[in-house]
Amino acid sequence: MVNFKIETWGCQMNEYDSQKMAGILKSRGYNEVEKEEDADVFILNTCSVREKAAHKIFTRVGVIRKKFGKGKIIGITGCVASHEADNLFKKIPNLNFVLGTRSIHLIKDAIEEALKGKTFCDTSDHEENLNIKPEQIDRKKMVKAYISIMEGCNNFCTYCVVPYTRGREVSRPIEDIIEEIKYTIEHYGIKEVELLGQNVNSYNYNGKTFKDVLIEVDRIKGLKRIRFLTSHPKDFDEELVKVIATSEKICKYIHLPMQSGSNKILKLMGRKYTREEYFEKIDMLRSYIPEAVISSDFIVAFPGEEEEDFLLTMDAIHRIQYDNIFSFKYSPRPKTAALRLKNEIPPEIADKRLFVLQKYQEKVQAIKHKEMEGKIYEVLVESVSKRDKTRLTGRTEGNHVVNFEAGRGENLIGRFVKVKIISSTFTSLKGILV
Ligand code: 5AD
Ligand code: SF4
Repeated sequence: MVNFKIETWGCQMNEYDSQKMAGILKSRGYNEVEKEEDADVFILNTCSVREKAAHKIFTRVGVIRKKFGKGKIIGITGCVASHEADNLFKKIPNLNFVLGTRSIHLIKDAIEEALKGKTFCDTSDHEENLNIKPEQIDRKKMVKAYISIMEGCNNFCTYCVVPYTRGREVSRPIEDIIEEIKYTIEHYGIKEVELLGQNVNSYNYNGKTFKDVLIEVDRIKGLKRIRFLTSHPKDFDEELVKVIATSEKICKYIHLPMQSGSNKILKLMGRKYTREEYFEKIDMLRSYIPEAVISSDFIVAFPGEEEEDFLLTMDAIHRIQYDNIFSFKYSPRPKTAALRLKNEIPPEIADKRLFVLQKYQEKVQAIKHKEMEGKIYEVLVESVSKRDKTRLTGRTEGNHVVNFEAGRGENLIGRFVKVKIISSTFTSLKGILV
């Protein structure tokens, strides 16, 4: 029997692709293992959104080779694979296979060739990976189900490598999405789904829009929570917010990446909205759903970002008071238009800006978390807490992570429980079962 181990970096879409590869391999008699010494095949499912993430794979392959010699098969899949294709064989000696984001359905063929001592590389633009059958996706490791509704992106924000690694936008038929969700409910007892796409708002299949998807998914019996990721502010409109506001199942949690608070930088980024338009969308969202939990992504030190631009970003964060922010220093990526921009920001200034932004957000989150203390929330239990084995961890509708005592040791994983928040820090919430 051939043992494999998948290591996943990056976003939810990569996690979902790893579940697909695991499912395909298991259905063909391959065996998934946890310990690296037990693995015959290492599949490194990679991310290339920032240089640091892309670089990690070279170090990781080095560590595996040093530990185990040439005996193990190593394959690289995902965004770095799409990007570099057979270049990777030059950069990484003794690499066995390379599969792009739209070729992962070929994982079995790649391993079979590698077992025969041949290399295998496919990074072409297949659409078959969108049509992998629900029974071939291995969902055992997670309480919620990732369901892709579309792949790729046509926006070409000037900093972003995604349109080059995940290709052009392709939407899946609604029937396939519904079938996959129903399957996960029947076979895994799934209660929460997260609909995935680089830009879910531009979903379009035979005239059906993202709103249609939400309305149809909302009707599925047995489902309790629906989330989605990621929305582009330019397409986030009132009709969509009305659908969210009137649904009992769609979580009132919205991730709406602003990226910068300066119109000059937004223009250079190719984001196609202004800060004023973004504020209007947030006001509109809050007018329908005052309790909405809102998060965002920001990039600091984009080329040309002057102090006054950064201050506009800080001003936006101050105005909106986000519940959570994912913030990054700009990282130049191959093929992207921003590579041609001048006025790079020195690393020390980039570090300082990121620090200022994150410190401010820590304060906001500490206050918001304090306000949650004493209140009771419904939590979907996800796992045993990593830090403390006597605790369980789960998420509220607003996507807040809550740790709480495991009580009488009942197996609550995958169930909804009521938890009262008793203490908090800016990063975490602690609670007790009610
Ligand atoms: N440099 C820094 N951050 C980036 N992101 C995407 N591309 C880059 C880049 N080149 C960030 C954006 C995006 C998030 C997923 O990653 O904020 O929303
Ligand atoms: Fe990248 Fe922009 Fe597409 Fe998001 S919308 S994946 S940031 S190009």
